[in-house]
Amino acid sequence: MKLFFSVNDVENLQDIVQEALSLKESPYQHKQLGKNKTLGLVFLNPSLRTRLSTQKAALNLGMNVMVMNLDKEGWALETQDGVVMNGTTVEHIREAAAVMGQYCDILGFRSFPKLQDRDEDYSEDLFNKFVKFCNVPVVSLESATRHPLQSFADLITIMENANNSPYFSGEGHVKAKPKVVLTWAPHVKPLPQAVPNSFSEWMCRAQAEGLVDFVITYPEGYELAEEFTKGASIIYKQDEALADADFIYVKNWSSYSDYGKILGDGQDWMLTQEKLKFTNAAKVMHCLPVRRDLELSSEILDGSHSLVIEEAGNRLWAAQTVLKRMLEKLPS
Ligand code: CP
Repeated sequence: MKLFFSVNDVENLQDIVQEALSLKESPYQHKQLGKNKTLGLVFLNPSLRTRLSTQKAALNLGMNVMVMNLDKEGWALETQDGVVMNGTTVEHIREAAAVMGQYCDILGFRSFPKLQDRDEDYSEDLFNKFVKFCNVPVVSLESATRHPLQSFADLITIMENANNSPYFSGEGHVKAKPKVVLTWAPHVKPLPQAVPNSFSEWMCRAQAEGLVDFVITYPEGYELAEEFTKGASIIYKQDEALADADFIYVKNWSSYSDYGKILGDGQDWMLTQEKLKFTNAAKVMHCLPVRRDLELSSEILDGSHSLVIEEAGNRLWAAQTVLKRMLEKLPS
């Protein structure tokens, strides 16, 4: 694997989940693979889970790790071509990425959308330029439109907890496939669509591979770009969508059609214990960080239905699997 940017970089979901669970069972089995190899993690935005889980994943594989908060610790970055750099930007992405590629065998890169110009964000111009100019394998630590390490960890979590899955180890009645529902949640700030886009893209693929049934619910105006939701059932009434759900994935996102806008407070969309009554004792997921009692009730977060900590724990095995696959393709 030379690039991990979306689910399209994965050939078979069951195989990659199996590999992640094998690493979870025996984390140090490939400790020699990363010897004398260096991972560089480059952040243009804050991070807790992605930063720490990817570092730990690299350490488990015997790699060295360097982390750079490029927005705070680097020179002000120019990303456009053909500009005379006589303003505030000091270093062009062409040189910055190329230089980081000289020091690292694999790079991770995180950048968020600006949520001002949809075409610019959805072109993934910055991420693509980083990949093009660094000249080493790149793992997305979240980009303007996707968060693949998060979605991979989400799939691992669902497969581990789904009672029909080959990986299932708990109690419960057997269903043909788990019903997974992505539900919009309220927030006070406009947030990117990267997590729901990516989750939807991975779940649509999981559905196509016969692993889940996938439903999305949101207030009108919060439709995601169609390229990410092909195959999903879209139900506008939240209570209808939640009926008989096995997994509920809670996430806020800003409008795609009225790009980057919040269209109302949507407080009645917060998932509560009361709403779980419609479900099949659903397990509740969220990528974190979460605003308690705004996006998701404390009662759910602190209760037995919540998978959020387990889900964040699985970020490690998702990252380790991706890094392992990249290391296996590096020249020795
Ligand atoms: N879920 C997630 O990516 O968390 P961080 O932003 O803290 O890395």
